[in-house]
Amino acid sequence: MADFKDKVVYQIYPKSFQDSNGDGVGDLQGILERLDYLKELGVSYLWLTPVFPSPQKDNGYDVTDYCAIDPRFGIMEDMEKLIQESGKRGMGLMLDMVFNHTSTTHTWFQKALAGEKEYQDYYIFQEGSPQKAPTNWQSKFGGPSWEYVPSLGKWYLHLFDVTQADLNWDNPKVREELKKVVLFWKKKGIRGFRFDVVNLISKPKKFEDDQEGDGRRFYSDGPHVHEYLRELVRDTGIEDMVTVGEMSSTHLEDCIQYSTSNPEEKELSMCFNFHHLKVDYKGGDKWALMEPDRMALKRLFEDWQLGMQRGNGWNALFWCNHDQPRIVSRLGDEGRYWRESAKMLAAAIHLMRGTPYIYQGEEIGMTNPHFRQISQYRDVESLNYYRILLDRGKTKEEALSVLAARSRDNGRTPMQWSPEERGGFTKGTPWIEMADNCRAIHVKGQREDKDSIYSFYKELIRLRKEKPVISEGSIAFLEKENPDVLAYKRQLGEEELVVVNNLTGREVVMSVPVLKAGTGARYEKLLGNYEGCKADEGRMELRPYETVVLEKRGIRADAILPV
Ligand code: GLC
Repeated sequence: MADFKDKVVYQIYPKSFQDSNGDGVGDLQGILERLDYLKELGVSYLWLTPVFPSPQKDNGYDVTDYCAIDPRFGIMEDMEKLIQESGKRGMGLMLDMVFNHTSTTHTWFQKALAGEKEYQDYYIFQEGSPQKAPTNWQSKFGGPSWEYVPSLGKWYLHLFDVTQADLNWDNPKVREELKKVVLFWKKKGIRGFRFDVVNLISKPKKFEDDQEGDGRRFYSDGPHVHEYLRELVRDTGIEDMVTVGEMSSTHLEDCIQYSTSNPEEKELSMCFNFHHLKVDYKGGDKWALMEPDRMALKRLFEDWQLGMQRGNGWNALFWCNHDQPRIVSRLGDEGRYWRESAKMLAAAIHLMRGTPYIYQGEEIGMTNPHFRQISQYRDVESLNYYRILLDRGKTKEEALSVLAARSRDNGRTPMQWSPEERGGFTKGTPWIEMADNCRAIHVKGQREDKDSIYSFYKELIRLRKEKPVISEGSIAFLEKENPDVLAYKRQLGEEELVVVNNLTGREVVMSVPVLKAGTGARYEKLLGNYEGCKADEGRMELRPYETVVLEKRGIRADAILPV
């Protein structure tokens, strides 16, 4: 069994982490320079988003060659050195395997375009008239998901950008090719993998129009996905490595199956799902803003935490990644309670049942960058949707305010290392602008400060290693009907933690029955984001965005039963 329960994974978006050569783009040498920082933070795995040769239409998720390094990030020797140097510091490297699709610049697709039938069968080509796409499915980045190739008289499927052609996993040759990629990196010493949108790999046998939606119900957790994953894992012998699948619009029962620990049915170590990050999508539409629905957030955590516990599955715990706006801007407070809310959000997620992921900059409370002009954006999805929003009748200002809240570029601005110009990220011009507050929020200002967000993350990582109740304990939810508070109890034998989080910027009073006199237990504060803790006799007063972690410390004398 891979050990991942008491570990924390740190996600690096190499393009924006550290530039070593002044070209404005982060690189592998840059990551090497920062390994000591990551070691000090205490994380055990480093997940690198794709650094393979790519035209970068989707920032590397459009791969041209799975077994090489894009020159803008470095050379293979840099990657080997990174594997070695991370290993020396007790950290394993995880690579991002984008196996649902390749770039259309990949030689397989180029051969398909040149008319080679064998390679056309690597992708999902359909005959059809140039006037009518095979189905009405929509691409995740907006617009139709099929593209017509006049020279072939065929359409190909692309669930993402038009330059990202979906692979045909029903073709055993494709599955063999992808196994070779996994084996290549395994041999190099990679310790784990993140599989990009891996629950979309199995498409239905027959392609039909979706009368109810954009087509996703036909291919999310598709017909052979579990079988294909089992085969990939078994044939590459990666059962004991750390593997995480990114699951798009997924289902609980499928995630239980994807992450089961049963060796006979082994698929992955754990799953990312995104349901909890849609609670501020009005009517389910990412591009329609609304205040976060806290009750919905609580219910989703309950469903997924309890469901995965019942089925013996394992969650990847996260708020942030390169596709999401910054969480403190989204569910916290960028102003007055910036520090408190960033810490509360960290504790809320890290102490649940699962393996936490930290996305670069989250540990210092980085915020959205507050871009004001369309020229500041780089992301293909954001640029597409800007046009779509204008077409739908929004004004430029309205469309820009939607992007400022929802664009993936919110999470992609360069890491803020120091108060200097360009945040210590680069000596050149960064490929995307820094956030407007980069002189105030940076690693340098927080590393030595015991009260910083950084120190709080460090403490959470340390506690997970130290306390099996965090990594192994069961979870039960408290205060279920209160939309203002996310509270839960973790338990492992005699060990017990009560975690209480005020999700609001107001003072909130809640009852905590376990703290009542006469219940026999005594609790002590283990961690929090304010001085002290206002609790007495079954009642707690929570300050704005307060988080309190209480630890059970044995039995009170007055509660010991007479023999
Ligand atoms: C995943 C990646 C995202 C990418 C998409 C297509 O969702 O995280 O960045 O655009 O897959 O590969």
